[in-house]
Amino acid sequence: MPGLKLTINGRVYQVDVSADTTLLELLRDYLGLTGTKEGCGKGECGACTVIMDGLAVDSCLIPAAKADGAEILTIEGLASPDGRLHPLQESFISEGAVQCGFCTPGMIMSAKALLDQNPYPTREEIKVALSGNLCRCTGYAKIITAVEKAAAVMGTEADKEQG
Ligand code: FES
Ligand code: FES
Repeated sequence: MPGLKLTINGRVYQVDVSADTTLLELLRDYLGLTGTKEGCGKGECGACTVIMDGLAVDSCLIPAAKADGAEILTIEGLASPDGRLHPLQESFISEGAVQCGFCTPGMIMSAKALLDQNPYPTREEIKVALSGNLCRCTGYAKIITAVEKAAAVMGTEADKEQG
């Protein structure tokens, strides 16, 4: 299959993949971006969630060819270049929203897509946005609280920037 060209976490990649490759396989197996997890492999668990052209998607369901020309953000792209964690990452840690951690990258990417569209979501809106992400460990309450906290922090930072 002809080479794909796509931007991942702000870096342009050109890569040749076989025709049946998924975006998840492209990220993990071809590019070594293993922060994105493979759970069910069929669109049911959300562990593989990344942001593609602004939308949270299950990367296990996206043929790599469909990502040609796309802008992809994965969990590896969230921290600042100086290593400072994103407020969502900080709040997941501080709120105890991470146990085994397997669902966490997908949860955080779904939450990031939500906050990009809706910086001040209600608890209900957060639940809906994360409804495709399964967690077997936490019972979800701490995850929702972590997203609320990150939204508050990000809102405060945005207010400061506006002076
Ligand atoms: S691995 Fe993609 S939704 Fe489960
Ligand atoms: S923290 Fe283990 S699946 Fe969510």
